[in-house]
Amino acid sequence: MKNFIEDQVELIRRQVGDKKVLLALSGGVDSSVVAAMLIKAIGQQLVCVHVNHGLMRKNESEGVVKVFRNQLHANLIYVDATERFLGKLDGVADPEEKRKIIGGEFIRVFEEEARKLEVSISWAREPFTRTSSSPAQNCQMVKSHHNVGGLPEDLQFELVEPLKQLFKDEVRACGIELGLPAEMVYRQPFPGPGLGVRCLGAITRDRLEALREADAILRDEFARSGLDKTVWQYFVAIPDFKAVGVRDNARSMGYMAVIRAVNTIDAMTATIERIDYDLLERIADRITAEVTSINRVVYEITKKPVATIEFE
Ligand code: XMP
Repeated sequence: MKNFIEDQVELIRRQVGDKKVLLALSGGVDSSVVAAMLIKAIGQQLVCVHVNHGLMRKNESEGVVKVFRNQLHANLIYVDATERFLGKLDGVADPEEKRKIIGGEFIRVFEEEARKLEVSISWAREPFTRTSSSPAQNCQMVKSHHNVGGLPEDLQFELVEPLKQLFKDEVRACGIELGLPAEMVYRQPFPGPGLGVRCLGAITRDRLEALREADAILRDEFARSGLDKTVWQYFVAIPDFKAVGVRDNARSMGYMAVIRAVNTIDAMTATIERIDYDLLERIADRITAEVTSINRVVYEITKKPVATIEFE
């Protein structure tokens, strides 16, 4: 890996010369490792753009800024596009339409940021690293994955793709070698459209907020019990209806948090994690106590297929 990094650094310097490189930095494994590699190769000639589409998990964008701006001293533009995305998504319930709006808007925000920079810009995209079977291949027919496989044809950029040849585990090894924090390098997958495809149906702000909080509790409990090291992907989704409950001796309507925790090798098929009941109960107690708009927690036990991992 050391040799690989040295070679790539050399190649990047040769390719880029004195130009600038623009990188869409989501904070996921791939874009983070590309960023670390480019910082090593060209330092301040790299301009990272982190677009917060308002559908990130709790404290996620803050974490990206902290690591890349404060610790790695990257040249980072942070764009809070929350209002723009939520505005476009207002009232849209169809999963494919939601995905297309989020993916399309993401490219538009990114291009606007590129135009604002006066220098001539090349583009280092978030790479699709090779997995034995990438979501791009297996899910095209089922759902359109945003950020995988879809740069617009008319982009006037030259690509810098230092991780193109690597498998995901090699990308992680590269990230560790480059000094990225382990939490970042071993993160669970998170879809491009983010919480947007977990706040089911038409997104509302209060349900999105409840989802973000419940998901943070789930992740916290998984970390405390060590399951974050063994389970492939785990998250909360919230359907767009309320159920009757009782809180403070009175009838109350509340949302339902659906927990999903799956294991897979290639995301083509997945089995469910058999979570211990004590842990499930603790998670349910915490979610309903700390997120008062939620009054039910259920555990989803369907394999892929027939379900998909995400709900939309
Ligand atoms: P599904 O729901 O298709 O998900 O069974 C398979 C894996 O892909 C992730 N996923 C995405 N990843 N952009 C991504 O980068 C997307 O738009 C997207 N949609 C789903 C999902 O989280 C799971 O790991």
